[in-house]
Amino acid sequence: MLEEVQQLQKAAVAEIEAAADLQALEELRVRHLGRKSPLSQIMKQIGALPATERRALGQISGAAKKALQDALEGRQSQLQEKAEAGDAFDVTLPGRRPLAGKLHPLSQLSDELIAIFQGMGFSVADGPEIEDEYHNFDALNTPADHPARDLHDTFYLEDGRLLRTHTSTVQIRVMESSAPPIRIISLGRCYRKDSVDATHHFAFHQIEGLYVDENVSFADLKGTIEVMGRQLLGATTQVRFRPHFFPFTEPSVEYDFSCSLCGGDNARCRICKGTGWIEIGGAGMVDPAVFTAVKYDSERYTGFAFGLGIERIAMIRSGIDDIRLFLENDLRFTRQF
Ligand code: PHE
Repeated sequence: MLEEVQQLQKAAVAEIEAAADLQALEELRVRHLGRKSPLSQIMKQIGALPATERRALGQISGAAKKALQDALEGRQSQLQEKAEAGDAFDVTLPGRRPLAGKLHPLSQLSDELIAIFQGMGFSVADGPEIEDEYHNFDALNTPADHPARDLHDTFYLEDGRLLRTHTSTVQIRVMESSAPPIRIISLGRCYRKDSVDATHHFAFHQIEGLYVDENVSFADLKGTIEVMGRQLLGATTQVRFRPHFFPFTEPSVEYDFSCSLCGGDNARCRICKGTGWIEIGGAGMVDPAVFTAVKYDSERYTGFAFGLGIERIAMIRSGIDDIRLFLENDLRFTRQF
């Protein structure tokens, strides 16, 4: 009987170690350790044996049972590991598509504007969004009683500073810290206490340009604006200048681009309303008072400056009819660009 038990153990362990899957293993467990298994049958007889044999058989069958349990456990964890590893390499599963990030439409347009102006020799300057009255108004020849300083237009902080209302602040900051020749653009967020609707927002973006050197003329301004217009809206784009007033430029203009959508033939054009012209921004020759504020020699230097809203260009080019979409960060909107 002792030998029989050892044979049983050997054969059963071999079968267990060869079990193909967890189900086969469970069947082997029942067959070799269940109540009707040969080993259980033998163990039932132990009590009836003479004391001398009882002890030896008891020990050897106990050891056999333990060996089978160990083998079952060992094979079980092997099979489980295999099953899990198999999952990780299931070549039939669809691949995981990486979520590719994208730049916001205003960032894309800003990059394009930077490229356009770098092509004309401009470099990019930066300035703070929290400004003081001096850089936002005074140094830009905007006296304290100017309507632009009205509390209704400007967000003031408790300490008297403010959120810049335009990027013209950067003109002053650049001229304060460097000598002519200056050829910079600056792009960034501006704030005004506008009530929000489809075409107004309290937070919006502008691009500012400034060119200061000896003999800079209005013709240089016109050429620069024209190049920008053609690169943004197409090679046939025309530019129109209308007299205007800004405290920090003299003479001052507003400039329009010809309508790239209808060419002026459509009275119901959503951009130009049939006028053929789209208002873009303001510009002019730097006022000598501004040069004086930054301690430039206004007899020696002349310059031009211009500004425009970045949202407006994006809206024209992409047919966007609501400025609020830019700041809502709704992926259904931003994913379209
Ligand atoms: N800063 C002006 C505005 O926000 C635009 C402008 C810039 C006008 C530069 C002239 C020169 O309306």
